[in-house]
This record gives sequence, structure tokens and C-alpha cells, in this order.
Amino acid sequence: MSEDPTHNDGLAVETRLVHAATGAGATLSAQTVGPPIQKASTVLVPDVASLYAYDRPSYGRQGLASQHALNAALCDLENASHCQLYGSGLLAATGALMSVLATGDEILVTDGVYQPVRRFCDGFLQRFGVITRYYPSGATADQIMALATPKTRLILIESPCSLTFELTDVSALTSAAKQRGVITLMDNTYAAGFAFKPLDHGVDLSMQSLTKYVCGHSDTFLGSVCTRRDDLWDMIKSTTVDAGFAVAPEDCYQGLRGLRTLATRFPRHGESGLALANWLETREEVARILHPALSTHAQHELWKRDYTGTGGLFGVELQTMPSAKVETFLNALKLFGLGFSYGGFESLAILSKPTRTASPWTGGPLVRLNVGLEAPADLIKDLEQAFEAIRA
Ligand SMILES: Cc1ncc(COP(=O)(O)O)c(C=O)c1O
Repeated sequence: MSEDPTHNDGLAVETRLVHAATGAGATLSAQTVGPPIQKASTVLVPDVASLYAYDRPSYGRQGLASQHALNAALCDLENASHCQLYGSGLLAATGALMSVLATGDEILVTDGVYQPVRRFCDGFLQRFGVITRYYPSGATADQIMALATPKTRLILIESPCSLTFELTDVSALTSAAKQRGVITLMDNTYAAGFAFKPLDHGVDLSMQSLTKYVCGHSDTFLGSVCTRRDDLWDMIKSTTVDAGFAVAPEDCYQGLRGLRTLATRFPRHGESGLALANWLETREEVARILHPALSTHAQHELWKRDYTGTGGLFGVELQTMPSAKVETFLNALKLFGLGFSYGGFESLAILSKPTRTASPWTGGPLVRLNVGLEAPADLIKDLEQAFEAIRA
């Protein structure tokens, strides 16, 4: 076995290689613009007493530099005192539900909720004895509260709904829910914690998929739940610890990177989206645009009251036409990719299929557009040539 004659401290090469990365170079402290990406399951502590000292990280699952930096930044963004990160937006929603619900509880959920959350409620929660009832999307606070029973523990708001874009009067609902001791959880992915601040409107748990606008590049899964309520925070935290939820340091770094440009990107998505929505409203192939920032939206006044801006996501209800023509239109798009998600830099389109029971979708074929950061004029040309394709 060959030995390094210079720095071997009398140790064999196997030992030196195992301990190589814990030397002085590993703790080099240089000022960088982002936090270090600390990759660790094990966290070394200085002495035995520190193994069980809970005022400092003692295991990597609790998160290290980049997780803590993202946490602090999201508390700032959402005016929150606590933030829990999750490995995806879906897990943020389901993790929050798992944290605060118990067998025998009932929950009221908007009919337009993100479909995988609906599946979780109807499957997983039901198996554990939690009953979900759906309220019509766009219902008033009074209509929603009229569905509450003494067993109602939580109301889940998604406003606007991400396929059909109905709004909820969040302040009215949260103040009525508080009087009845009902927790409110809001999926605020649409506004990214930027154009609408749920906690300022009385929401108890503000959840978002950071995968969308915050990360902004369609390449990272993350979710968050923010709150000001210490009692709910204790439940969120203990479920996270008990269930073993953890987020990767690289993903949190990407989340922080996205946050830095959110205030620049989000309004740009919004302006371009409105340019396209206004143009689409003039097209004979279009029956209706579903966009809360347009004066033609049924709840536009509510949007104006509560929102400081809009992103680039909206629905396009086409005139009644054979489904083959709708497919031809979507397949003809060149700049819009066909794919789920939104909030990324690139434009996307999907054929929407709302799954609803309390307020079934009765309109025409529904397409959802995520307007990215391309030049709006180019995107309009793309839509124009796709409309030409269905005329042919
Ligand atoms: C409104 C809404 N909530 C939650 C999610 C889930 O987020 P993720 O893809 O990060 O799991 C999505 C994803 O499309 C969404 O649109």
C-alpha cells in the first residue's frame, strides 16, 4: 500500500480518503451570493451533549443552509412567522391536510381544486375517516359556510381555481370560518405569494407550489406552507418530523434563485398574458376568456379589490367544435409547448378537463394557456397560425 509521505499523520490511505473532505477545504468560508449547498444526512456535533440539543440542526433532514435561507425568504414574502418546505406543491397541500386533520373530521373543498388534491381527499383521507364535501367554485362565503357542520374542521380554498378561474372572497370566508373555529387552507399558487398574500386576508395556512412561479424554470419540484399560527405550526412541524418529509438542498437553492427574479418575471407574465387574452377575445373561434384581470370576468371587481397583479395563466373557452378540431389547434402550436404546469419561462398549453361534482363544467372546449416570457407578438402569431390550421 503506498503512503503519501507529506501529510499522512501516520494514517493508512483508506482512512485518509474517508476523512479527506472534512479537512480545512471543506469548511472554507468564502462570501458567495447564494448560500452554500450543504449536502448532509449526518451533521457532526462538537460533543455528546450537542447530540440531543434541539436548538441546532443535528440531522440533515431538518434542512441546512439553503433550506433555512429559502424558509426565511418565504416568511418574508408571505408575511408569515413560520414556513414549512415540502418536496412538491402536491405534498405541501397533502402534508398540511395530514397535519391538522383527524378521524371524524369533515372538510369543505372547492370543487375546482387541483385534481390530485381531490384524489387525495377522496382516497387517502377517506380511508382514515375524514369526509370531504365539495362547494361550488365561485360560491359566496355565506353559501360555503351554510355547508359547514359541527364536524367541519377545515375549508380548502383555491382561488382562482387553476382550470376555471373562479375566485373566492377570501376575507369574507376567513372571518366567517374564524367565528366557527374552522381552519382555512389556501392554495395560492396562482399568485405565488406575490400578487396576493393569503395571511393578510385571514387565511390560517397559505400553501403554494413553488414549482411554478417561484422556481420559474420548469425543472424543480418544491412546495411551501406558511402560517402565523403557532398552534398550527406545531402540528405542521411534528407531522413533518414524524413522517420524514425532507427537501433537497439543491432544490432550495433553485427556489432562492427563482425568488430573486420573481418580482420582475411575474408582472411580465401578466402583461404578456393580458395582451394575448385581449387579442383572443376578438377571435370568432373563442367563446369566452377566463381571466380574472379582464373586466369581462364575472368576479373582476373582487380581483381588483384583492390582487396587486396577475400572472400569465388563463383559460380559453372555444366555440363548440368537434374535439378533433380542438386537437388540431393544439397540435399546430409551435411556440406553446403541450405540457402541464405553469409559471415557467416558456409558454405552455393544455386541453383542460375539469373534474367536478358540485358545479359541473357546462361550457365549450376549454384550453389553458401559460404565457411565458417570449415576445407577445410572436405568441399571437403562433396562435393565429394554429387557428388557421382548424379552418383548413
Ligand atoms: C393549483 C396547484 N396546486 C398544486 C399543484 C401541485 O404542485 P407540484 O406540481 O409542485 O406538485 C399544482 C400543479 O400543477 C397546481 O396547479
